[in-house]
Amino acid sequence: MIVERMRTPAAVGDAERWTAHNYHPLPVVVAEAEGAWVTDVDGRRYLDCLAGYSALNFGHRHPTLIAAAHAQLDRLTLTSRAFVHDQFATFCRELAELCGKDLVLPMNTGAEAVETAIKVARKWGYQVKGVPDGQATIIVADGNFHGRTTTIVSFSTDSDARDDFGPYTPGFRIVPYGDLAALADAIDDTTVAVLIEPIQGEQGVVVPPAGYLPGVRDLCTQRDVLFIADEIQSGLGRTGETFACDHEGVRPDMYVLGKALGGGIVPVSAVAADRNVLGVLRPGQHGSTFGGNPLACAVATEVVRLLRTGEFQRRSTELGVRLHTGLRSLVGEGLVAVRGRGLWAGVDIDPALMTGRQACERLAERGVLAKDTHGSTIRLAPPLVVEAAEIDHAIAQLAAVLH
Ligand SMILES: Cc1ncc(COP(=O)(O)O)c(C=O)c1O
Repeated sequence: MIVERMRTPAAVGDAERWTAHNYHPLPVVVAEAEGAWVTDVDGRRYLDCLAGYSALNFGHRHPTLIAAAHAQLDRLTLTSRAFVHDQFATFCRELAELCGKDLVLPMNTGAEAVETAIKVARKWGYQVKGVPDGQATIIVADGNFHGRTTTIVSFSTDSDARDDFGPYTPGFRIVPYGDLAALADAIDDTTVAVLIEPIQGEQGVVVPPAGYLPGVRDLCTQRDVLFIADEIQSGLGRTGETFACDHEGVRPDMYVLGKALGGGIVPVSAVAADRNVLGVLRPGQHGSTFGGNPLACAVATEVVRLLRTGEFQRRSTELGVRLHTGLRSLVGEGLVAVRGRGLWAGVDIDPALMTGRQACERLAERGVLAKDTHGSTIRLAPPLVVEAAEIDHAIAQLAAVLH
């Protein structure tokens, strides 16, 4: 039977016609979704193995989160931070407790939270560490992805992200990811922070060598430098722990969170740190009209409560074993490498077979959504509500694409 896809081509064409081409989406036009599945405008169903780059850790339209959003929509949606609202303290307290930190500063997008962390680290450097004015440096890793603002792309090593967007913000040093000796060498008296992803998602789910994160922690403690962990993609249950740093028993000085914090409903991001760090900010020095709005706080509080149950971390651990076992069985059968942790995997397709983009297009034709990165890598990050049989289904479809 020929599947009719009447509405998809026109909808793809319209989207191309009316927007800047800063993305290259797969030709799938999603209209509805529930749990781990989405349905397109032609009624075709797909298993969502991208989950909004981990923004949908709890699946599409998790009932608890939707109920919280509905209830809040009926009461109060926005105040700005000019006033306090009745959802604010609960969210900040519960997220601070989840992080084991004193304070939380909510923002909206991930990039804003990273910018917040950079500003706070610099101010901490001048006011607490005593770095001479204007000299603060922050050390970042090769292959990083922290967002798209002008300051953040200034220290990107990806030419697509960076080229032609200068002049660039100074004050960053780039060291190889996973290399403690290089990090130790790069730290000097002007260094206020080390900013890294505990697992580099956008780079292809790159897990650093065992001992790297504890080593970063030790170096930062010894040299009076803040350890900032960008857990925007790796955190909130994705890897089988609340934070990817937990796998190595590491506690950074500042967590940077986003994506899943908004439950797949509203953009919510935040930084969490102790009072001696976040306490450097004074009124007027940082803010956002929508940051910590009532709708965001109501949804994100329920996200924190879902995480407190441990159910999603457990699912990610258990189903992650299934995912990785299945993917490893394809190494030598079209895959050249598999990396990751929990329900998060980066797989390298044999470039002699096809590109990552082609693999994702063929997967989509078979009803599985995933996204390529850096040529021959594809990322798999299904919602943590996915079932074992659905993992098996995704792996079977990938096997079929590779044959
Ligand atoms: C580790 C990391 N940091 C920051 C960001 C930026 O988040 P946003 O797109 O919400 O600005 C991302 C987005 O992919 C990310 O993966």
